[in-house]
Amino acid sequence: MNGRSLREREILSIVTRLEHRRQEIMNRLHHFVWLSCEDRECRFPLTRLRMFPELPYTGHTEYFSTGNIELVFVALLPIGQVLRFLDGTCGPPPAVLSTLRTRLEDISMLTAYPDLEQAGFKQSIADYAGVHPKQLVVANGFIPLLESALRTLRLKRCLLPVPAFVEYRRSLARAGVEIEPHILSPDSNFRYDIHVLVHGGHDAVLLANPQNPSGVLTTRDILLQFVSECAERNITVLLDEAFIDYAPLNSLTLDVEQFANLIVFRSVTKFHGIPGLRVAHAVANEAIARALNETLPPWPITTLASCAVASALSDQPFAERTRLHNDRRRARLRAGLDALGIHAYPSAANFLLLHLPEGISADRFWSHMIVEHHMVLRDCSNYEALPSRHLRMAVRTAEENDKLVGAVAQLLPFCQRSQWA
Ligand SMILES: Cc1ncc(COP(=O)(O)O)c(C=O)c1O
Repeated sequence: MNGRSLREREILSIVTRLEHRRQEIMNRLHHFVWLSCEDRECRFPLTRLRMFPELPYTGHTEYFSTGNIELVFVALLPIGQVLRFLDGTCGPPPAVLSTLRTRLEDISMLTAYPDLEQAGFKQSIADYAGVHPKQLVVANGFIPLLESALRTLRLKRCLLPVPAFVEYRRSLARAGVEIEPHILSPDSNFRYDIHVLVHGGHDAVLLANPQNPSGVLTTRDILLQFVSECAERNITVLLDEAFIDYAPLNSLTLDVEQFANLIVFRSVTKFHGIPGLRVAHAVANEAIARALNETLPPWPITTLASCAVASALSDQPFAERTRLHNDRRRARLRAGLDALGIHAYPSAANFLLLHLPEGISADRFWSHMIVEHHMVLRDCSNYEALPSRHLRMAVRTAEENDKLVGAVAQLLPFCQRSQWA
């Protein structure tokens, strides 16, 4: 046991407690639920499982060969009883599935190469975002777009406000860009202090609106002022708007022509619930968009994915319904947690970042929510500069959210009695 982290000891103790259910577990292993996480560090590789010879499933570890830490727990729970507060419930819009089915009846979807210029698809996105197709760059996800921007603009030193989506750091490192972390304070709700962010020896800033993991929104006015100050200092603003569809009036996509130092990245995966299709776009002034398009490999997305995404973007009633439900549910969830003494930051996205009361360990809270209540929250221990006692949870259906608040209400007194450090 010595030398193991708190998390490792915790896992071991929980799994050992479940030893008496060994046969049941073995019988159900082929049903395991795969809980993917957006961050690769959440995964719990096979090699680390082997560090636990005490585990009841020793010899069966091949079942976990692609597993992550959540998988270890979930495999031990009755199927269908696990509530994943890792991601929301909004998508996909019904049109996505019907489009995929209908389009597949046309074999050329598979036999022909996609349109090299992606003209029709770009027009659909342009209509959705209110921009010109020539201002668009389309690729198979945010990361290829970001890396194309880093390569094209030959950025040298990037200010990175943290905590932030962990892939930012990896992309910057891969592109050989020097990273200058800038720590945001939970005491100010992780607010971007735009006057501070413009100072320093950096030639780029990478930020998100709304932020991940806090969901905190910076208003359009403030960001415009920031981009303008950056323009005066030759600083490029790389703005990740992956969650902006929840607060679309704050998007800066309509401002790119005015600012040659601004690239806005948009995602369809979050709001429309289709991460498996791998499509994202960036908006920049025409000259930058052209340069970015030239550095991307040809045919970055499939015809089938582009048809499905186009149908998702044209579903206006879905977008309105999603925003309305999300706003109401998030407000109710936040109020419910607040009544229990759990602080959640003011989020504009489809998730909340919780700050647990003093004396409660996020690790233990997280694992007890899984084992006792069959609910998986997002472990936040791999977010750079995020103080301890934070967990993130998605906004799900009203019923599921109420269940979560009920579970937290039960768990809290237990945590407090047990004096978790
Ligand atoms: C802040 C943020 N930006 C970008 C992405 C990636 O988006 P996409 O699926 O469009 O590549 C994620 C994924 O979790 C994210 O959290």
